[in-house]
Amino acid sequence: MSILKNGILWNDTEGNPIHAHGGYIIFHDGYYYWYGEDRREDFYVSCYRSKNLTDWEFRNHILTVRSNTETYRVRTKIKLVNEDGSKVNLERPKVLYNERTKKFVMWVHFENGKDYNDAAVAIATCDTPDGDFTYHGHFNPYGYMSRDCTLFQDDNKTAYFISAARDNADLHIYRLTEDYMNVECLVQKLWQGEYREAPAVVKIKEKYYMLTSFCTGWAPNQGKYAVADSIEGRWSMLKEIGDETTYRSQPAFILQKDGKVLYYGDRWGGGGEKYFTSSYVIYPLAEKEDGLVMEYVEEIDI
Ligand code: DGJ
Repeated sequence: MSILKNGILWNDTEGNPIHAHGGYIIFHDGYYYWYGEDRREDFYVSCYRSKNLTDWEFRNHILTVRSNTETYRVRTKIKLVNEDGSKVNLERPKVLYNERTKKFVMWVHFENGKDYNDAAVAIATCDTPDGDFTYHGHFNPYGYMSRDCTLFQDDNKTAYFISAARDNADLHIYRLTEDYMNVECLVQKLWQGEYREAPAVVKIKEKYYMLTSFCTGWAPNQGKYAVADSIEGRWSMLKEIGDETTYRSQPAFILQKDGKVLYYGDRWGGGGEKYFTSSYVIYPLAEKEDGLVMEYVEEIDI
């Protein structure tokens, strides 16, 4: 298979549906690794790998209710299941490789699975891209609420964590410590009162672009983007991209391959059992004279 049809369930190389929503892809040692939410059974995060971005081999349930836990020097709370045995909610997992520590470091939105009041971020690490991750617990960066999130690694390997704060009203950018295990500095508070979710960042020719959605639960809405010369510097005001439903999707992440800029979005089925009908879309992005443009396509040959 080399063509991916948008908005249908994609299968892995064993013929099973790919469970990797709100995800992220990194390239490491000849393979792309796709991490994402897997809300089935006792799983939290699953990992698939591919050489061509179309044939995805399931690798591992890298984070589950039974994952090993280990406190870290950041004061985190370790809770992979509630006292009553129910699952917590781990959403939008993102993973970066840290060249100094040789660890794969995951940052993921944490909620207790009963309400959305924890608004925290959890971290987990592993020595390999698709091994069993060790869970280090959750915390609120500098005490702030932290919901929909992403990671971004700059060319100099400085990494940033970006997350929705103040009940989603504002979007924060934190620079990470060199080991990617903690926030080092809150570098930006963006778009106060704009309620942006689902951030995804890409750097194209020395410019930083951030795509986000508005905040409407599982329903899609008008995507917007902003641009900056430096991720820690001044960001533009938000401009619309795509149509009023971002072509029926919400941003997951943005990937660059062979000069192409590819937007990956989730087409959510909804909450409860409907969640499992959620699918994926990939839309090409291009820099044009009047800004960033998203092209609607029914299918894509990567
Ligand atoms: C929007 C978020 O972006 C999703 O990750 C998910 O949390 C839904 N809200 C739940 O309503």
